Amino acid sequence: MLTDFERVNFDIAKIESWPYVTALKTGGSDLSKIILTPENTKHLEAEILKFVATQKTSENLLKRRNGITKHLTKVLTNKFRGSKLSTFGSFESGLNLINGDIDLCLQFNGEKPKKVLKKIARMLNEDGMDNVKLITTAKVPIVKFIDSQSKIPVDISINNSLAVYNTELLRRYSTFDPRVKPFIISIKHWARNRGISDAAMGTFSSYAWTLIAINYLQSLDQEVLPNLLKKDGSDTVTIDGTKYDIGMHSDKELNYDSKNQRNTGELLSHFFETMAKDWPWNNGVISVGSGKILTRKEKNWVAIKPYISDAIQDSEIKRLGKFSLPVEDPFDNKHDLGRVLDVEGIFEIRDEVLRAYQLISESANWDIISEIKYPEITPNEPQLDLFDDLRNQDDDKTKRDLESLYAQLKEIEKSVSVRESERNEAIKMSKALRRNSELAKEQTGLSSELRPRRSKIDELQSKRDSSNNHYIPVHFIEEEISRVYSLLTTESLNRVEMNLEKEKQMFSWFFELQSMYEHSKLTRKYHREFLKILEQQQQSIEHIKDIRQEMIEIQSFGKFTDFDDLAMKLLKELNPLKRERRNLRREIGRLEAWLRKQTHFNNNKNSRNKGKRRKFVNNRKVDDVKSKVVSGDSFSLQDLEVLLKNGGLSSVNQPKGKSDKSKRKPKKNNHTVTPQRGKRGKSSKNQ
Ligand code: UTP
Ligand code: MG
Repeated sequence: MLTDFERVNFDIAKIESWPYVTALKTGGSDLSKIILTPENTKHLEAEILKFVATQKTSENLLKRRNGITKHLTKVLTNKFRGSKLSTFGSFESGLNLINGDIDLCLQFNGEKPKKVLKKIARMLNEDGMDNVKLITTAKVPIVKFIDSQSKIPVDISINNSLAVYNTELLRRYSTFDPRVKPFIISIKHWARNRGISDAAMGTFSSYAWTLIAINYLQSLDQEVLPNLLKKDGSDTVTIDGTKYDIGMHSDKELNYDSKNQRNTGELLSHFFETMAKDWPWNNGVISVGSGKILTRKEKNWVAIKPYISDAIQDSEIKRLGKFSLPVEDPFDNKHDLGRVLDVEGIFEIRDEVLRAYQLISESANWDIISEIKYPEITPNEPQLDLFDDLRNQDDDKTKRDLESLYAQLKEIEKSVSVRESERNEAIKMSKALRRNSELAKEQTGLSSELRPRRSKIDELQSKRDSSNNHYIPVHFIEEEISRVYSLLTTESLNRVEMNLEKEKQMFSWFFELQSMYEHSKLTRKYHREFLKILEQQQQSIEHIKDIRQEMIEIQSFGKFTDFDDLAMKLLKELNPLKRERRNLRREIGRLEAWLRKQTHFNNNKNSRNKGKRRKFVNNRKVDDVKSKVVSGDSFSLQDLEVLLKNGGLSSVNQPKGKSDKSKRKPKKNNHTVTPQRGKRGKSSKNQ
């Protein structure tokens, strides 16, 4: 794939950043004439083994890595109920360098992965981690960060189950033959130090280099590694609806014995020779899953335009077409790990391969071959001795540093506290104004109801009055009708003659009552409606009165959105201040831990001289110093010493109840002193 550009003519200045590629193009170097002799490479084996021994995971590193994983497991599984955190990557496969990252996968189905990662990124920031980055554009979105104390990089992905399986495959390969581990670790180390092992920078990922290395060992004439994958469908997993064949042969099934007798140094030099002279991507696809380099035709991954030859002539082309340097994922066969490469990355990789080969042919030693090219982007070794800088420093200087840190902390505390109370006020104002505007809306709504209801009241009142001007209750008419009716009918039943005139009057009264009854019923209906609506009107008026009373006279201060903006602005100012405060507290904790350790050491030497009187005086002094810290008064180096001997800053901040409790606790052996990890693990609400 690169050879095509060797055939086209272009301005050579375009590739001057890659001297070995340029030398090939201009004829300054002829690969066919560079031949390796045993003399050139015989020293490599010992050097490689020596280097690999330096990459062994120490107890301390393991402890620190486990500590970080444990802390994250606690925090994340607490936050995302029902989730599980698993480790994968090189530390699980055994192919790690000591400056390798911690790869973690959170299995969680409660929310969308990107949302979960966003929350995790926020939590990590609050937790004081360094360089927290959310990468959602990658095939597998991740949060990357650096543990602030040990400087160990950590990657967290969500439901990345396939990676757990491919880690297992790499682990199987790493233990298959004793040469595999040192061989892969050396290639990874070389690629990392030469700046060509970072997918985010347009070069191959560490994982891709591991596959390239394994595939080389599989595709030798006398291969070192077999194909471990069964690919017979007997063992599959379904992830996100896609089925993957993950079946692997057991060692017993394979009963494999490599005929290849080369040592790791020889394998490594031959690897660079092959890469330089027989660039696998000219017509091949790296395929660990097939156990050999597939032809592009076999895989059906023929390179798509633009090619290198196009990019070299057109500087606008930053990315090549699909399948430029294809590396097939062993389980996800549709995934080409070379898709992340950019034009510069490809030239960089080619140049480094040529450089390594050239150096080996000149008998260069391993340190030179794998020399760090870009110190600023090469991961540092983990910082495991937290007191490294303090060991050779005078303790008085450490105390002075501590004093100055306390002073800085006091300043920061002040700034934080001012902004926090300002922010609380802004939030209160926003809430009050928001409530006011809600009340104003309600008031307008109620007022707009009053007028139409008033005309309805008038209408009902006139209807009621016109149907019967003198409103007589219906029940009264009912009773009268029944009385008159009874008079009229009882007399006739008793056959007592009623005076005719009287009878006429009674009948006419009876009919009048009947007509009144109809009217009265209608009037009652209007009257009831009238009363109901009148009550509604009354309630609205009362409500408006209440609202007016509740509304606070703060309209003149502006809109609630202004206060929301202010609160947001203050929050943005608070975040870096809090971060600084956390870092200061952490550094204070570290220096205090160191000085406590020193004090403890000195006290042990002088313990026999302690008297009761001194203890009493000390107790009084401690209280004085603590009250100075609380009140913010300045204090001397002696005060500082007293504070350190008596629990440091944390003992001052402790609420009464807590410190009482701790007094009751049996005293722990103080020999191992670890600095406090700031507010780690505690809810951000407490900060
Ligand atoms: P890394 O790039 O961190 O590789 O990917 P690594 O093997 O752990 O190497 P170092 O030592 O940190 O440099 C971590 C894991 O992520 C999965 C693989 O399981 C890999 O081991 N991975 C990575 C993929 O599945 N696909 C990728 O494209 C990249
Ligand atoms: Mg890793």
